[in-house]
Amino acid sequence: MKCKTCGQKATVNLRQHRLGLCTDHFLEWMLTQTARFIKKYRMFGPDEKVLVAVSGGKDSLSLWDILTRLGYQADGLYLGLGIGDEQNPYSAESHRLAQQFADQRGLKLQVVDIRETHGQTIPQLAESVHRGQGRPCSVCGVAKRHEMNRIARDLGYDVLATGHNLDDEAAVLFGNTLGWQADLLPRQAPVLAGHDGLARKVKPLCRFYEKDMAAYAILRGIEYIYEECPFSVGSTSIYYKELLNRLESDRPGAKLAFYVKFLEARSVGLFAAQQAEVSQPLFTCPTCGQPTAHEGQCSFCRMVLR
Ligand code: AMP
Ligand code: FES
Ligand code: ZN
Ligand code: ZN
Repeated sequence: MKCKTCGQKATVNLRQHRLGLCTDHFLEWMLTQTARFIKKYRMFGPDEKVLVAVSGGKDSLSLWDILTRLGYQADGLYLGLGIGDEQNPYSAESHRLAQQFADQRGLKLQVVDIRETHGQTIPQLAESVHRGQGRPCSVCGVAKRHEMNRIARDLGYDVLATGHNLDDEAAVLFGNTLGWQADLLPRQAPVLAGHDGLARKVKPLCRFYEKDMAAYAILRGIEYIYEECPFSVGSTSIYYKELLNRLESDRPGAKLAFYVKFLEARSVGLFAAQQAEVSQPLFTCPTCGQPTAHEGQCSFCRMVLR
C-alpha cells in the first residue's frame, strides 16, 4: 500500500477511510484532523487555556503532544488514584510517565493525589462505599470527574480536555443503545458546555480509532503505560470494544459510522425531547460548592464523608 499523499510506502493503513499514509504524512494528518475537529465542534479557541487530563496512557499523552504542537496553551493534570501494589504499581508508573513526558518537553503538570487531598485512595474509598462488593470503577469515575472539575475551575482553566478516543465513545454509545438509556444518549458529545462552576469538557480525539492513537504515540516516540488499570480486566466496556472490533474487521468503517451518525442525529435534534427532560436546574453542593443534580451534598462529598 502506498501513501496517498507522497506515493512512498505507507506505514499506517486507515481502513475506515480507505487511506494509507507514510509516517510523516500520518503524523501531519493527525494534527490537521484534530485541528479540524476542534473547530467543527467549537471546542476552544487559540487564546483559551486548556487543561489536559493525562492518565499516562497513549491517548491522553498523545493529545497533550498534539495540542502543544498545534500551538495551544495546554497544561496537564495527573490524578494519583493510589491503584496497584508492588508487583503492579499501576498509579505510580502512570505518574512517572506523565511527569517524564512533561519534564522532557518543559510542560507544566498539575498533580493531585486523591489520598493526600481526601484521606483515602480510590480502592479504599470504594471499599467503604461498596463494602468489598464489585469494582471500584464507578467510585473512581465520580472522583475523577469531581477532581478534574475542581482543579479546572480553581486554577482558572477555560476548558478541560480528555483523551477519550472513538473506541471509548462507541463502546459507551453501544452500551447506552443496548439498554435504550434515553436520558444518557443526549449527554454524550465531543463538547459539554460549561456553566455555573462546571468546566467545559472536550474530547478532541473522539473520532480517532484506538489503534491509530497507539500508532501515533509509538511513531512520536512517546513512552506510555501499556497496562490497563487492573480493575478494568473483564469489564463490560472492554467486552463491547471487542464486539465492535469484530464488526469492524468484517465491515471497515462500521465503528466510525456508528458514532458519527449518532452525532449527526444528535445535532439535528433527534434526542431533543430527552435533552429537555434531563436539563434540570442544578443545585450547589454545600461542602465543595460544585454543581449537583440533587439537593444536598454531591455524590463525591457523600462518598468521602462515608
Ligand atoms: P478512562 O476513564 O480511564 O478511560 O480515561 C479516559 C480519560 O480520562 C483519559 O484519556 C484521560 O484524559 C482521563 N484520565 C483517566 N485517568 C486519569 C488520571 N489518573 N489522571 C488524569 N486524567 C485521567
Ligand atoms: Fe479508576 Fe480503573 S482507572 S478504577
Ligand atoms: Zn507520505
Ligand atoms: Zn461536593
